[in-house]
Amino acid sequence: MSNNILKNLAIIMDGNGRWAKERGLIRTKGHEKGADTIRDITEYCAEHETIETVTLYAFSTENWKRPKYEVDFLMRLLDRWLKKELETYHRFGARFETVGDIEGFSPKLQKTIASIKEQTAHHTNVTQILALNYGSREEIAKAATRLASRGEEITENSLGDELNTPYTDIDLMVRTSGEQRLSNFLLWQLSYSEFFFTPTLWPDFTPHELDDIVDQYVNRNRRFGGL
Ligand code: IPE
Ligand code: IPE
Ligand code: MG
Repeated sequence: MSNNILKNLAIIMDGNGRWAKERGLIRTKGHEKGADTIRDITEYCAEHETIETVTLYAFSTENWKRPKYEVDFLMRLLDRWLKKELETYHRFGARFETVGDIEGFSPKLQKTIASIKEQTAHHTNVTQILALNYGSREEIAKAATRLASRGEEITENSLGDELNTPYTDIDLMVRTSGEQRLSNFLLWQLSYSEFFFTPTLWPDFTPHELDDIVDQYVNRNRRFGGL
């Protein structure tokens, strides 16, 4: 019987559009509902004894391919949502961080992001890391470029440390909506993580379902190549 500790959790929050479509609503309604789910999941993570970070895939470098109205909506939603969530971060003792190239966002949104980071920097129950304009291949390539430009040797350790994420190993990765792929998420950091795929669409995902997944994770046999 295993007893795995869960420190770093990552979630691909997928299925907002389909959730809306099933209800005859426009896709953006799914994003609004999905934003509420983030609060519930962050509360679960803050209260969980061992979880230190939860990384949530919110916008990929490939998501710019979507229609402009949807991209614009997501940017506005993020700005509005972060301002509203400040109170939640304080209540849960959650620190807000990001990974990804936020310089691709408007100055206004960048300012909001920086302000929420600053105001939550002292919280220690959990760090919620939103992956924003994030692409794993780009993250790895840029890390290697930085090492090379400093004339440093590229090794597993140096490259791992140079990545923008504050960890090198994710313990558990969950993707909602039934899709079973990584979509350029944390390729390096997921090398030995346990994967769970659930058909539940992100707006319908609950702390209760996550708790079931965590129970299964705890009992998985992680061998890391050993016996
Ligand atoms: C995930 O939901 C949120 C983002 C990628 C921004 P989707 O918008 O991908 O929803 P589906 O996959 O179309 O249902
Ligand atoms: C992955 O979902 C990105 C996020 C959840 C932010 P997508 O819906 O963009 O992924 P694909 O296109 O189905 O692979
Ligand atoms: Mg999707």
